[in-house]
Amino acid sequence: MFIGPYALDNNLFVAPMAGVTDRPFRQLCKRLGAGYAVSEMVTSRPDLWNTLKTSRRANHDGEPGPIAVQIAGTDAAMMADAARYNVDRGAQIIDINMGCPAKKVCNKWAGSALMQDESLALSIIEAVVQACAPSNVPVTLKMRTGWCQSHKNALSIALDAQDAGVQMVTVHGRTREQGYKGDAEYDTIATVKAALRIPVVANGDITSPEKAREVLQGTGADAIMIGRAAQGQPWIFREIAHFLETGEHLAPPLVSEVKRLLVEHLHDHYSLYGEFIGVRSARKHIGWYVHSLPGGETFRQQMNSLQDSASQLTAVAHYLDDLNMQMDRIPARQRGETGKVDDIGRLADASAMELAV
Ligand SMILES: Cc1cc2nc3c(=O)[nH]c(=O)nc-3n(C[C@H](O)[C@H](O)[C@H](O)COP(=O)(O)O)c2cc1C
Repeated sequence: MFIGPYALDNNLFVAPMAGVTDRPFRQLCKRLGAGYAVSEMVTSRPDLWNTLKTSRRANHDGEPGPIAVQIAGTDAAMMADAARYNVDRGAQIIDINMGCPAKKVCNKWAGSALMQDESLALSIIEAVVQACAPSNVPVTLKMRTGWCQSHKNALSIALDAQDAGVQMVTVHGRTREQGYKGDAEYDTIATVKAALRIPVVANGDITSPEKAREVLQGTGADAIMIGRAAQGQPWIFREIAHFLETGEHLAPPLVSEVKRLLVEHLHDHYSLYGEFIGVRSARKHIGWYVHSLPGGETFRQQMNSLQDSASQLTAVAHYLDDLNMQMDRIPARQRGETGKVDDIGRLADASAMELAV
């Protein structure tokens, strides 16, 4: 599969998730079988480009390409500037977050105003495509099925976007009004796929190899994108890849491998965020890794009181060494069969959710 000139390793993508899919996590997912990862959203407001948060989000050190940066905003000229700014700093693909609900980023409640206001949406798309054209940087678009049940306009926006030169469209199978409630539906995605020449990516509630196959077959999509189900299990990509290839389930990872991956992830995480923020922001990742493991919930609660990276690393290593005495491999996760993303934690990051589309 290609995005513009870039050949991807496979069609299993990591979804952009603010506060989650930073460079360390994206790299881990790519190492474990994801063919493509889009960065967390970067604001189109120039006054925020030099903040630590934005510069961390724009950190791609050592990341295998193509480097894709998602931008968000409600003003066409600002979005074009943001695209140019990121291209100048190494972005090889620009993804437009359509429906930016980022009140605190855009300084006004955009909601999914972009999907509600198709002409504004189109002017932003055209401005960004034009800004990227001189550098031959492909522009992609991520959106929902529509604003609400009675206004599902993904198809018309996708067609306009394709005409304007967008080279790939991702559709999350929910309306903006739904938030994360209810189930993702894939009929709208299938309709978009059937109508477009450019690649279409299906997203929403893909939590297991079976669900991945079902969505790929049911929508005819060129690729699938996985968000919450990758939290704490970045190996889901190799599990899905193996299942799609062979029809067989890959064994869950060895506890010793989980320990190695998590410890490496933590080191990388601390080096990006520094000690103070790193220890605190690592807690959610650790919680996701352990929450369905035996004793994981108790461990998560205890670990949350640790204040420095050395004790966090030691606690993680002890917990997983103890688990390794009880079992070789982590238990296969129970969730996923129904296609529902389960439980705590996965939607707990309120500030990130404010940004989520
Ligand atoms: C914590 C969190 C942060 C998110 N941040 C973004 C974002 O920055 N940009 C974006 O386009 N979508 C964002 N999303 C939406 C996801 O990319 C994805 O569309 C959604 O979670 C549905 O996929 P899933 O069911 O596989 O999680 C976010 C989702 C979550 C849970």
